[in-house]
Amino acid sequence: MLKNDLLLRTLRGEKTERTPVWMMRQAGRYLPEYRVLREKYGFFERCQTPELACEITIQPVDIVGVDAAILFSDILVVPQAMGLEVQLIESKGPVLPQPIQTAGDLNRVRVPDVNETLGYVFDAIRLIKQELNDRVPLIGFAGAPWTLLCYMVQGKGSKTFDEAKTFCYTQPELAHQLLQMITDTTIAYLKGQVAAGADTVQLFDSWGGLLSPQDFENISLRYIRQIVAALKDEVPTIIFAKGAWHSLDAMAATGAHGLGIDWCIHPQMARQFAGAGTSLQGNFDPAKLLSPIPVIEKEVKEMLQAFGPGRHIANLGHGILPNVPVDHAKAFVDTVKNFVY
Ligand code: CP3
Repeated sequence: MLKNDLLLRTLRGEKTERTPVWMMRQAGRYLPEYRVLREKYGFFERCQTPELACEITIQPVDIVGVDAAILFSDILVVPQAMGLEVQLIESKGPVLPQPIQTAGDLNRVRVPDVNETLGYVFDAIRLIKQELNDRVPLIGFAGAPWTLLCYMVQGKGSKTFDEAKTFCYTQPELAHQLLQMITDTTIAYLKGQVAAGADTVQLFDSWGGLLSPQDFENISLRYIRQIVAALKDEVPTIIFAKGAWHSLDAMAATGAHGLGIDWCIHPQMARQFAGAGTSLQGNFDPAKLLSPIPVIEKEVKEMLQAFGPGRHIANLGHGILPNVPVDHAKAFVDTVKNFVY
């Protein structure tokens, strides 16, 4: 039995004593304890070594006091398992030297046996669950198919992902083949995470907001829908499609238990769009954590008031920035924990 199940109860729409809080990308570079391990081991070595992934996953629970742990890994381990080389280059971000551009390239990717290719993640999850010892729930995750296609086709980060869009708009059949392969892999991967002990799973569609509402439905949401349908009876699911606020109603209709929102939409408006049957997660501007602590405290309280009690998971509207001081992250978490409506 979990000692702190605020997150899971909020996702199921049950009453809680207070609002749960965690931060996207909470296991990462703003923590000095993480930077020590980063000096010693490569990025994928940290992901692939269960003891390291476990230690990094638990760091923010111990240091910042969040109400949930999120598995330390990356969304790009899925393209890797599907057969593509992925490098993480300092100051450049992810690079895939041989991206997918033609029908011939598609022959280089496969729907893998996830136990063979991603078994190290399941091992990490089993170890993390043991070490967490029921203190807080563990969030598993994967990238949404459209966001993974962005990297698999563009081959690197981008502000517009124009090459990924060109691929989808000029070779739609190939694009849908690839999206379906990613979807099938992701379903098996997330089911494996749940079997290993993940208490809930989040889909990161970081680039969902680059698409028009129609294209978001056609290229992104239709695959997210399949993934949520395959998992929602096993564990609560959360969809975070950054910038895709126009489709909150359609995302709620998938049956997802939680929807992440960024800071560019009013909580009240998001609630209206999403309806009363889904929990909302967000939506503090990550850059606001660079403000003086009293400003953080004031604005977090305003955010909590705007969401109102119940059906809200306090979080940032995107990942925490590497230059945020730890005491500022802690002020964010503590303000939520001490808040009384
Ligand atoms: O949330 C957590 O703390 C768990 C771990 C986690 C990481 N990446 C670790 C990581 C999670 C959930 C992710 C998700 C992820 N990865 C997303 C979706 C969320 C988002 O922020 O939009 C995306 C788009 C990626 C792809 C990715 N991985 C990029 C663009 C980069 C480089 C830029 C950056 O943020 O550093 C990474 C590397 C990465 N993934 C780091 C970490 C801690 C930093 C690398 C390092 O420390 O050496």
